[in-house]
Amino acid sequence: MDKKNIDWANLGFGYVQTDKRFVANYKDGAWDEGTLTEDPNVVLNECAGVLQYAQTVFEGMKAYRTEDGRVVCFRPDLNASRMADSARRLEMPPFPEDRFVQAIVDTVKANIDYVPPYGSGATLYIRPYMFGSNPVIGVKPADEYQFRILTTPVGPYFKGGAKPITIKVSDFDRAAPHGTGHIKAGLNYAMSLHAIVTAHKEGFDENMYLDAATRTKVEETGGANFIFVTKDGKVVTPKSNSILPSITRRSLMVVAKDILGLEAEEREVYFDEVKDFAECGLCGTAAVISPVGKINDHGKEICFPSGMEKMEPVIQKLYDTLTGIQMGRIEGPEGWLKVI
Ligand code: PLP
Ligand code: COI
Repeated sequence: MDKKNIDWANLGFGYVQTDKRFVANYKDGAWDEGTLTEDPNVVLNECAGVLQYAQTVFEGMKAYRTEDGRVVCFRPDLNASRMADSARRLEMPPFPEDRFVQAIVDTVKANIDYVPPYGSGATLYIRPYMFGSNPVIGVKPADEYQFRILTTPVGPYFKGGAKPITIKVSDFDRAAPHGTGHIKAGLNYAMSLHAIVTAHKEGFDENMYLDAATRTKVEETGGANFIFVTKDGKVVTPKSNSILPSITRRSLMVVAKDILGLEAEEREVYFDEVKDFAECGLCGTAAVISPVGKINDHGKEICFPSGMEKMEPVIQKLYDTLTGIQMGRIEGPEGWLKVI
């Protein structure tokens, strides 16, 4: 191992170029067989659909090195089907789901020396993405598309790893009712950039978005779903048609109920209730589970009992169990790990 001479323990969440990436092209109504290439650059026509009208969707997943030395991915079939849903919503031809999973396996295999060692705290982040590649000037879908998968070794998404973060209630909305909040489209992230830069300037780590229609219900952050724990130990997560259906969150609900024997509920969560929760965290592939210590609502603070130093017990248990399954220390439900 360590053929790549990377300081795994000190990696941030950034781009490190790896050896190979997968590329497939869609033309004349069909996907070609695709190939692995060493070229990290994409050359596009100046009028490509993605450049003009942001016709692009993506996914995020990770490869982990387990305690017994295997390399695995976590539930890649769910990323495949979510990416197909995203593509359909933007009038793009989905990349076939079985081929998606195979392409993930092939791309990780081709970059196997970049999968960080077990216990290093780092993982190999995998970014499948797809975009309209032929010239489009009237507002309409492209006819040609490129699907790619890049990999990059990453450390924690939030500096400080598992220490609680501080978030603010955003003045901006992330997603409209009946809009695109439930898919993983680049456009959702483009419009969140001003909100996150503003939050960072004000000293916050992230934004809490409320529902755009009433601004009374909790939605999600720019890159993760919320989980809360009630004072009597029940796990609660917001239900909304305009948030991304997080694979981490869906998995945590199973972990909570079936492995930890906790009560767990997906329901609408009103912002007014948040002050009464005992624990709060963000969950996602990049965020894993990041505890939230404080929420600032226009100067009014909600401080969770955790303070700013440690995870509280239920979120800690969820974190330990989920990462235990992902790293092969704990047996998870059948089919959750895809061995590379
Ligand atoms: N919400 C948003 C907006 C995201 O970008 C992500 C990251 O993918 C998530 C939630 C978490 O989803 P997942 O757990 O599938 O990574
Ligand atoms: C992920 O968790 O994979 C995402 O795409 C979120 C982004 C903040 C990196």
